[in-house]
Amino acid sequence: MRKTIIAGNWKMYKTIKEAIELSNGLKRELFKLDNQDIDVVLCPPFTALSEVYEVITESNIMLGAQNLYWLDEGAFTGEVSGKMLKEAGCNFVIIGHSERRQFFGETNESVNKKIKAALANELTPILCCGETLKEREAGKTFDVLKDHAQNGLAGISKEGILKIVIAYEPVWAIGTGKTATSVQAQEAHKFIRDLLAKLYDQEVAGQVRIQYGGSVKPENITELMQQPDVDGALVGGASLQVASFTDIVKKAAEVLK
Ligand code: PGA
Repeated sequence: MRKTIIAGNWKMYKTIKEAIELSNGLKRELFKLDNQDIDVVLCPPFTALSEVYEVITESNIMLGAQNLYWLDEGAFTGEVSGKMLKEAGCNFVIIGHSERRQFFGETNESVNKKIKAALANELTPILCCGETLKEREAGKTFDVLKDHAQNGLAGISKEGILKIVIAYEPVWAIGTGKTATSVQAQEAHKFIRDLLAKLYDQEVAGQVRIQYGGSVKPENITELMQQPDVDGALVGGASLQVASFTDIVKKAAEVLK
C-alpha cells in the first residue's frame, strides 16, 4: 500500500509574513483532519523555510524545498545545499521541476546529481518529469518520461529509489488551468511504474509513489486520485490559499487507496 502524498509547491510566491499566515491557516484546518494516512508537504521559497518549519513543527504537516545544489558547501554563490535544507527542517525537496529545466538550464545530469545529494542528506527527492505540448503532439510523451526518469535515476540503488517520490507533471498542464484527463494521467503513471519494474523490479514498482501535478484543484483531485497509479498530487496555484489546499487534502484523503 502506498501512502498518499499531497505537496504544495509555492514557487516564487509568499513573503515570510505571508508564508507564516498561510502555514498557520493550513495547520489550523488540517489539524482537524484525521490525515494519518496522508503525507502533507509544504514547499515554500528558501527565505521562508525556517519560519514555516516553526509553524508546522509538532503538526502533521512536513516541509520541503523547491531545489538544492549537489555539494554540501563551497564557493557557489546563490546556491543552497541539502545539508542546509535539512537543518532548516526539510524532509523533502522538489528536483527537476519543468520551470527549472526550462528557465534555469536544469538537465537530467544535474537532476541526477541533486537526487543523489538529497538522498545523502536524508531528504526525500520529488523527481519531476513530464512532456511539453509539442512533445505530446509529436507522440513523444513516453520517450520524454523514459528520458527524464531513467536518466534522473541513473546509478540510484534499489534502496535509494524506495526513498524517492516521482511527480508526473505534463508541462502543458502547469499553471494553465488545463489538467490532464484522469485517463491521460493514469496512462503516464502506469508507464512510469512499468519502467520502474524494468529498471528495478516489480516490488519496487509497486512501492514507489507517483504524484500527478498540473492544475490540480478541489474539483479534479477526486477523479485523479481514483486512478490506480496516482498516489497524490503536486499542487502549484491551488496550494497558495488555505481553502483550496485544505479541500484538496481532504478530498484526497477520502479516496481510499
Ligand atoms: P499548478 O502547478 O498546480 O499551478 O499547475 C503545479 C506545479 O508546477 O508543480
